[in-house]
Amino acid sequence: MKTYISLFVILFAFAGCAQTVEEEIVETEFEHDELVATVMAVGDSEVSGSVTFTEDENGVAIQGSFSGLEPGNHGFHIHKFGDCRADDGTSAGGHFNPAENQHGAPSDDVRHMGDLGNIEAGEDGEATVDYVDGTVSLQQILGRGIIIHAGEDDLTSQPTGAAGSRVACGVIGIAQK
Ligand code: CU
Ligand code: ZN
Repeated sequence: MKTYISLFVILFAFAGCAQTVEEEIVETEFEHDELVATVMAVGDSEVSGSVTFTEDENGVAIQGSFSGLEPGNHGFHIHKFGDCRADDGTSAGGHFNPAENQHGAPSDDVRHMGDLGNIEAGEDGEATVDYVDGTVSLQQILGRGIIIHAGEDDLTSQPTGAAGSRVACGVIGIAQK
């Protein structure tokens, strides 16, 4: 036992009091280049569909298709929480807005990151989205929500575009490729 204690003392003396605890800093590079959300109907809607978010040289390609919608435009946003538990979709929170900007159009420089504008459903209730977004960051939207609204996002009213109630909700996750 004495031997151990002596060894410990010697080691401690060598290390001295200047020894600092180095925190391990793990550099994590975001390693996913495709995310996906499947949307489920909210309330008494019958909306279904899915949307992918794929890294693109000009931003993030957003491609999706949906059915069961009323004909016309429907607000389409990334919301703060990937939480679809509430019957009316309100558990997804407000628009995802890390920069604390005003609500706007997808083409605006000043907008919520979650402002993806509208999807337009035809008479058959089907809608598609397919464009490249220059503001969305895959790393930041992972785990957040997708909401489709009953009404049209007017792209100007604050803070939500006055798009009305929520008819579908989804959670943005990592895609299997
Ligand atoms: Cu919304
Ligand atoms: Zn917004």
